[in-house]
Amino acid sequence: MIPKVAPSVLSADFGELNKEIQLINKSSAYSIHVDVMDGVFVPNISFGQPIVKTLSLISNKPLDVHLMIVDPIKFIDEFVFDNTLNITIHYESTNKIEETLDYIKSKNIKSGLAIKPNTEIDEIESYIQKVDILCLMSVNPGFSGQNFIENTYTKLKQLRKLIEKKKLSTLIQIDGGVNNTNAKKLFKLGADILVSGNYIFKSANPNKVIEYLNNLSRN
Ligand code: DX5
Ligand code: ZN
Repeated sequence: MIPKVAPSVLSADFGELNKEIQLINKSSAYSIHVDVMDGVFVPNISFGQPIVKTLSLISNKPLDVHLMIVDPIKFIDEFVFDNTLNITIHYESTNKIEETLDYIKSKNIKSGLAIKPNTEIDEIESYIQKVDILCLMSVNPGFSGQNFIENTYTKLKQLRKLIEKKKLSTLIQIDGGVNNTNAKKLFKLGADILVSGNYIFKSANPNKVIEYLNNLSRN
């Protein structure tokens, strides 16, 4: 089975970052989800390139870089590391979507497109075949620890149907508020990768939680 859980480092204890990453290194996580925020596209600032570079050096998991910044094309180069698996940009953050996705691809990195909870699937239909990963935000981007937005289920069903109809291999990622109350249903409805921050890092045993979530994808 391919592990399908991406712990979001935004919920880690930054004072113990190395320890937290070493823990994830030993887990069955698929990747490490890295949330970069600029305080303009979202009402919060997280961390920037120097921290992500450090993460890339201490992580033996590939990095799933989620850019919540305006005009992301300007910063793609800064997040290209040996273990960058994908760079995901927001549909709402730029008018150079195609150019930015092509630029990411030119770096031999998987491209991702994320949409906010209020953005409809119809709006991004033409991009589905052009990206490797489609990320449905299930919280309004900006903060960890928020409640899962229920209409994500409807959007997920709609997107899965479209991917199947078009016979594509685009992966569906769900990001925000993922925990034991929704993970199983999300896998069942066709999610490929679940991002989870608070539920994993604030638990007593993060590795056990990652294993638990991974196992939910089997049935
Ligand atoms: C929200 C971020 C998410 C967040 C997930 O803006 O993109 O990746 O860190 O954390 P939880 O699982 O706590 O919602
Ligand atoms: Zn994220």
